[in-house]
Amino acid sequence: VRTPLVVGNWKMNFDHLEATYFVQKLAWLLRDAHFDYKRCEVALMPSFTSLRSVQVLVDADRLNIKYGAQNVSVTNQGAFTGDVSADMLARLGCSYVLIGHSERRKYHPVDDANIVDQVRAVLTAGMRPILCVGEGLEERREGIELEYAVSQVHDVTRDLSDDQASQLIVAYEPVWAIGTGMVATPSSAQDAAKAIREDLAQTFNNHVAQAVRILYGGSVSSKNAVETLDQNDVDGFLVGGAALDADEFSLICRLA
Ligand code: 13P
Repeated sequence: VRTPLVVGNWKMNFDHLEATYFVQKLAWLLRDAHFDYKRCEVALMPSFTSLRSVQVLVDADRLNIKYGAQNVSVTNQGAFTGDVSADMLARLGCSYVLIGHSERRKYHPVDDANIVDQVRAVLTAGMRPILCVGEGLEERREGIELEYAVSQVHDVTRDLSDDQASQLIVAYEPVWAIGTGMVATPSSAQDAAKAIREDLAQTFNNHVAQAVRILYGGSVSSKNAVETLDQNDVDGFLVGGAALDADEFSLICRLA
């Protein structure tokens, strides 16, 4: 059985003071006995500049909230001005790193080779990659959305070992649903997650396919979370806008 995972992607929001305030508020909102962190993993993805503050707070209060980064370099050290390595993130206690988010693909074009190297760098540093995939409106209009998302996962992961692949988390985020209020129907989120899982079973084996958590992302809110999470192959959410409000985000965690 896969533990549901709810990830808040803050994107380029919150300085370290706001991040600190949010984490404290979230921990307070989820403090009661009705919320069991073993039954729903909660993770936040702050900006690089807030990671240290989040780490200190999580450590000091022994919070069960996990955290990670929104991007990572493919190299481990050296003359790469402005980059941050996977080891640096691991040293800050990061559990996860987002890879290939559609906003990164759009504003900082990367190719698949680059994404493969990022996945490997994250795994080598002992963290888990959250690989983001999903079709745009064009692919959806053409009716090739499933093939598109499946191949985005397949092309990047096929050369991993079984062990490495079982560490993966995939986030299916149709680009047209991100920040638009247009959420994918529960059944289309399920169709994509199922197709991705079937391909993982073919590429690796059923054990790997059953271990990988597949999240849905794109206009997730407390109003649409339950139905989507009821789907067999959807194991949680990657939340954007609704992750900037601690009350709303804590509600989504509770529903999961
Ligand atoms: P929204 O939840 O704001 O649509 O963003 C989704 C997203 O991109 C999460 O990574």
